[in-house]
Amino acid sequence: MSNRLYIFDTTLRDGEQSPGASMTKEEKVRIARQLEKMRVDVIEAGFPASSLGDFESVKAVADAIQDSTICGLARALEKDIEQTGLALKGAKSGRIHTFISTSPIHMQMKLRMEPEAVLEQAVRAVTWARQWTDDVEFSAEDAGRSEPDFLCRIFEAVIKAGARTINVPDTVGYAVPEQFGQLIHFLLERIPNSDQAIFSVHCHNDLGMAVANSLSAVLHGARQVECTINGLGERAGNAALEEIVMAVKTRKDVFQCDTRIDTSQIVPASRLVSGITGFAVQPNKAIVGANAFAHESGIHQDGVLKHRETYEIMRAEDVGWSANKMVLGKHSGRNAFRTRLTELGIELASEEALNAAFARFKELADKKHEIFDEDLHAIVSDETVAVDQERYKFISLKVSTETGELPHASITISEEGTERHAESTGSGPVDATFKAIESQVNSGADLLLYSVNAITSGTDSQGEVTVRLSKAGKIVNGQGADTDIIVASAKAYLSALDKLTSTITRAHPQV
Ligand code: KIV
Ligand code: ZN
Repeated sequence: MSNRLYIFDTTLRDGEQSPGASMTKEEKVRIARQLEKMRVDVIEAGFPASSLGDFESVKAVADAIQDSTICGLARALEKDIEQTGLALKGAKSGRIHTFISTSPIHMQMKLRMEPEAVLEQAVRAVTWARQWTDDVEFSAEDAGRSEPDFLCRIFEAVIKAGARTINVPDTVGYAVPEQFGQLIHFLLERIPNSDQAIFSVHCHNDLGMAVANSLSAVLHGARQVECTINGLGERAGNAALEEIVMAVKTRKDVFQCDTRIDTSQIVPASRLVSGITGFAVQPNKAIVGANAFAHESGIHQDGVLKHRETYEIMRAEDVGWSANKMVLGKHSGRNAFRTRLTELGIELASEEALNAAFARFKELADKKHEIFDEDLHAIVSDETVAVDQERYKFISLKVSTETGELPHASITISEEGTERHAESTGSGPVDATFKAIESQVNSGADLLLYSVNAITSGTDSQGEVTVRLSKAGKIVNGQGADTDIIVASAKAYLSALDKLTSTITRAHPQV
């Protein structure tokens, strides 16, 4: 048994299936560059046959990335596989991941197919995929609720047809660790050609056991884990990459395998994904939560000061917490700014975008002495949206609040170049600001989420605001960042409105 554990990241595909987490092509490429820097083995970039936007995104990621394999998902249909093969044409290393359901409930109720027909379709799909690439992965959707004997038959057949990775998804998050580990053990033992493929797992978190199930599978011989940054994903999410990687690294004595991940890139990746998707990371989240390495109790603090390992099993710097170094300041020039963006893997679309981002940087550096990488990511996110989709633009805001008085907001925005002014009162300054904006734009959208996060530490930190709006089945997240959180809130609201009305294709539009 090999001691290499392959990390397959599906943030850009399954992660994107979280409502409101859809990303543009540029956003996907930025995240893919960070995943490559982190040395992820396989990046699942999307589902090319699902939309033109997703096709273009997978193609852009495939063209941009050199050091990770780029994977596209395809149903077990010839047209899906063809689209995926085309999207991956420019990849240095490309994988087609084809899937079909194998559980009795999915075969009867969803596919309305007999098991034999499913098996034959799976073999056909792998054969089609092999015409495009040698690197073919097959997934038995809902394997967690499938008959183990049927799984043995279908896996044996698709390995014979040329699948090199066999994925066992717990699609609905139903498995428990002991049983799931036993299933992997059983499959590896029983399938005569199991040694000709890498067995992989893909666990969802509906019962909060995605990571535990994945790790149990690793203990029983799985050598690829499919996971996402911050555990993003459909419903309750997927297994969190950072937890899998750090569990295996920290407990080598138990797992006897390791990954090639550069763990110092984990926190930057977490920040980037949360900034782009607007899904904040809870403070007590393992590895990447703001409190993950904070010792509050006096006894713990005393112990850590005397000997760090009394209470710490991992070092914060090993997962990239110390990467939040001050990189630029008030006196930094345009070249230093451009160089740092390049080091962060950020490429702006044009000189115009770079100039606008640099102007924002200067403005921020005047208010805030220390500019961190997270600040740069926030600036660039704002500029990417502004340049791509500039329908609504924030111009100025005046807010008055006084104890005992109703807060009042007076805002100026531009809508397609025309200045508009509006005023409103509200139950708080943010409420007043949003009401003022709505009085002008009349979007009629429902506010699903409003959240504020400090981007870095200190009271001079920028606040990053996420606003999730929904209208006619379309759900979008808008982000805004500023040292003034009411201004950040207004920007986030306008960015969400931009996305609601945008004609730019989001890769996974959720409509
Ligand atoms: O959860 C699932 O079953 C999937 C497959 C397509 C791998 O995402
Ligand atoms: Zn999934």
